[in-house]
Amino acid sequence: MLELSVLPSDLPALVSILTGATIIAIIALRGRAILADLRILISRVANIILLRYYPIKHVERATNLPFLPYIFPNGQGNVEKFLRGRANSAKWENEYGGLYRLWSGMNGEVVLTKPAHVEVVFRDSQNHTKAHANNSGYLMDRLLGSCLGLISGQPWGAMKSSVEAPFLHGSMSQYAADVQDFTAVYLDHLGKENDAFGEQGKLHPVRDLKLLPFLVVAKIVYGRLNEDLERDLIGLILPREDLFKSVIGGGITRFAFSRFLPLPAIQALHHFKRKWAQWNDRAHTHALKGPGQSTAPVVAMYRAVEDGNMTREQLLQTLDEILFANIDVTMGGLSWVLVFLAAHPDVQEALRSEVRGQSSNKATRNNYLLSSWTTTPTLLGACILEAARLRPLAAFSVPQSCPSPRILDGFEIPAGTNFVIDSYALNIRDAFWGADRERFRPERWLERQRSGRDLRYRYWRFGFGPRTCLGKYLAELIIRSVIVEILENWHLALETTAEQREKAGDNGHSKNSDEGRNWPWDDEVWIHSPDLLLKCEPLAARPA
Ligand code: HEM
Ligand SMILES: *[C@@H]1O[C@H](CO)[C@@H](O)[C@H](O)[C@H]1NC(C)=O
Ligand SMILES: *[C@@H]1O[C@H](CO)[C@@H](O)[C@H](O)[C@H]1NC(C)=O
Ligand SMILES: *[C@@H]1O[C@H](CO)[C@@H](O)[C@H](O)[C@H]1NC(C)=O
Repeated sequence: MLELSVLPSDLPALVSILTGATIIAIIALRGRAILADLRILISRVANIILLRYYPIKHVERATNLPFLPYIFPNGQGNVEKFLRGRANSAKWENEYGGLYRLWSGMNGEVVLTKPAHVEVVFRDSQNHTKAHANNSGYLMDRLLGSCLGLISGQPWGAMKSSVEAPFLHGSMSQYAADVQDFTAVYLDHLGKENDAFGEQGKLHPVRDLKLLPFLVVAKIVYGRLNEDLERDLIGLILPREDLFKSVIGGGITRFAFSRFLPLPAIQALHHFKRKWAQWNDRAHTHALKGPGQSTAPVVAMYRAVEDGNMTREQLLQTLDEILFANIDVTMGGLSWVLVFLAAHPDVQEALRSEVRGQSSNKATRNNYLLSSWTTTPTLLGACILEAARLRPLAAFSVPQSCPSPRILDGFEIPAGTNFVIDSYALNIRDAFWGADRERFRPERWLERQRSGRDLRYRYWRFGFGPRTCLGKYLAELIIRSVIVEILENWHLALETTAEQREKAGDNGHSKNSDEGRNWPWDDEVWIHSPDLLLKCEPLAARPA
């Protein structure tokens, strides 16, 4: 047994020693098989220490909360949790039960799979402390560690009140007309391009539509951009995506000392941050000069920095979060709806007739797009909820801890321990959803509408409790506008290759399960999104 008293008493020091030892070993043993053994050894030692430093015990039986073994250096962080999260979610629940701990780097995270546990933990989510940089390490910290979504306490409260106004429910009606006009022009243009739908009749629901929500959000935040600004903003998307792949990949850039190393990812970080700051300053100046444009939210946000309500770094990172971090998230929420509608022609037809009934004039159409689900449930709203139920943006939610201990299944989870929600357990595997829970059936939402409170901690989409997504109303408005515009003009169908048909044939349960559908996923992106083509037939060309 290891003699723990010789070890340093704080974890950061321990991490430094372990990583220092590893770097020396890597230099000394480059390419030797011993390296693999060393990794196993470090992992084992770290495991013993982690459990000793951070015990979670049953209040009566003094047994340990089930846990996954820590593996140096990432634990289950990011690659296992996100890129392989969909498969791991079910596998881990099977092996470790409905409440267990995993490791994101060396940070423990307690996984919640039961609605009753979610309620106990999340009813005071405004008092939660978000894990430092999403437990994703140094590179993430420098990119997004100070954004609104990842800070807590007083700084979070101050920043939230300085940036939230343009995203409140009441602000949506001023965007409705603009969002629809922009969507119509964008889709019309896309329909005429050679490689998109129209001539070839095929739509890639992520690639082809990606710029749409991005530019809509940009216009809302910065006001109307000029051509230069718009081009430069679009030019930043690719470098930002590459950088984020390094963040998710983890490895050495998880550690702060990596800033001293000549790593491409570190250089890319500096380059991107410089460009992003410059671009924002230009956009801000443009907003100030433009006629009638100084009401653009970016102006008030810069003023809040001057007032000391938030730092410049916090603002720049929050604008990154609003623009870049959320492109993939919003595209996931939009693209899966289109895929499900293409796969379910009956639902698509029913929704199209609802849409036609609501489009007679501008006012009715606006009300339809802006209507609140709780007062005016629609099939449109239900289709979006159902797609997001079956395709949550990630398998595991943002890690965050409570200010006080929580007792779950008899285990006392100390204050400050991070929790993550297993979204597949909640949204799909829970028997609450009924025998057809793996199936895309939006009507279930209209049936359940009457018992809305029931659903409160059972469905993960925008977060739980008082602290949730800032962009939820805007995202909903954009997604609804795009779906309505598409359904009014095109008929959607699945475009399957011979290879995919063959694969789908192997997949025996695909007839009654949409969860297990063998649609290609884009595994490069950490947000779950589809990678396939949809056939778009112009409606006018179809025989009545
Ligand atoms: C369908 C699309 C979207 C989904 C599913 C989504 C989901 C989420 C989730 C799960 C959170 C974390 C909540 C928590 O603290 O536990 C979040 C936070 C956040 N989202 Fe979204 N989001 C979407 C679109 C957007 C858009 C378009 C924006 C741009 C305005 C946005 C801005 C934010 C911000 C700033 C936060 C941090 C809020 C805070 O912590 O106070 N989101 N979102
Ligand atoms: C939690 O937040 C609420 C409202 O923001 C506040 O009134 C309350 O004192 C907080 N509780 C704790 C334990 O921090
Ligand atoms: C900064 O915070 C103060 C106090 O909460 C508030 O009165 C002021 O309006 C804020 N400034 C901006 C630009 O949001
Ligand atoms: C942190 O991770 C969660 C998923 O666990 C994701 O929803 C969220 O957007 C991430 N935050 C940022 C700022 O990337």
